[in-house]
Amino acid sequence: MVGEDLDFMVLLNRILKVRGLDCRQYRDKCLKRRIAVRMRANNVATYRDYMLVLKKNPSEYDELVDALTINVSSFFRDRGTFGVIQDTVLPQLISSKQKHNKKIIRLWSAGCASGEEPYSLAICLRELLGDRIEDFIISIYATDIDEGSLDKARLAEYDGQALRGVEEKRLGRYFTYNGKYTVKREVKELVKFKRHDLISDEPLMHLDVILCRNVVIYFSRDSQEKLFQKFCDGLNPGGYLVIGKTETLTSRASRMFRPIDLKERVYQKL
Ligand SMILES: C[S@@+](CC[C@H](N)C(=O)[O-])C[C@H]1O[C@@H](n2cnc3c(N)ncnc32)[C@H](O)[C@@H]1O
Repeated sequence: MVGEDLDFMVLLNRILKVRGLDCRQYRDKCLKRRIAVRMRANNVATYRDYMLVLKKNPSEYDELVDALTINVSSFFRDRGTFGVIQDTVLPQLISSKQKHNKKIIRLWSAGCASGEEPYSLAICLRELLGDRIEDFIISIYATDIDEGSLDKARLAEYDGQALRGVEEKRLGRYFTYNGKYTVKREVKELVKFKRHDLISDEPLMHLDVILCRNVVIYFSRDSQEKLFQKFCDGLNPGGYLVIGKTETLTSRASRMFRPIDLKERVYQKL
């Protein structure tokens, strides 16, 4: 490996060492495009010069990590997908729990950004269960590699943009408004946030539903394959996997899951 490629690898290793973000399994094209944005912002043309910028100005790492871990999200993102979750996935799950007299419900929002997705799940569960929520022990695990996003998620304060399209009734019921929308305690208390790297950390286990949306698009094919295997291992028999609308299961993974709704990318473990 020579010149530019070598500098690129050195830069990735430095990001891992300084910020603990391991991008070496991300698609090179995506990474290069995003790093180029930061290089242009700092008026440098080579990875070597950009590393000098990072050395002189360590706060540039914050900008770089932001650029690399694109963390846009919104409440009930992809209405159709949340429709299938609320009308099919969760009702089926709840009735199967009741049938087998099981009380524990475990959901995982993997790559949760600033918390919009796990809080949306919590609202769906509250709406479906009503007072019966007391009959269950519910944990919604919400993980991300980016500590900054997790801090925002724990704060649970959002502007109108994150809540665009959410009905007035839901806004009034589950948020308080004081210049910003704050998620109410009854929703917050269902969600547990923690840092987790989907590539290098062990998966969470004994799960009923995993949502991992708009995350694996940045991963190499090989990492996607390994991640889907981890999800399959982490799910209870008959558990559900929801991926992003622009994402697809790898061919090996498609043999581990059956589609519930192909358009909305909702699958069930075989
Ligand atoms: C576009 S957001 C998706 C948020 C939400 N799932 C949604 O669909 O609205 C992608 C998130 O994946 C996270 N991410 C990227 N690489 C990751 C990794 N290796 N492990 C865990 N999270 C990762 C980013 O930090 C970012 O918050």
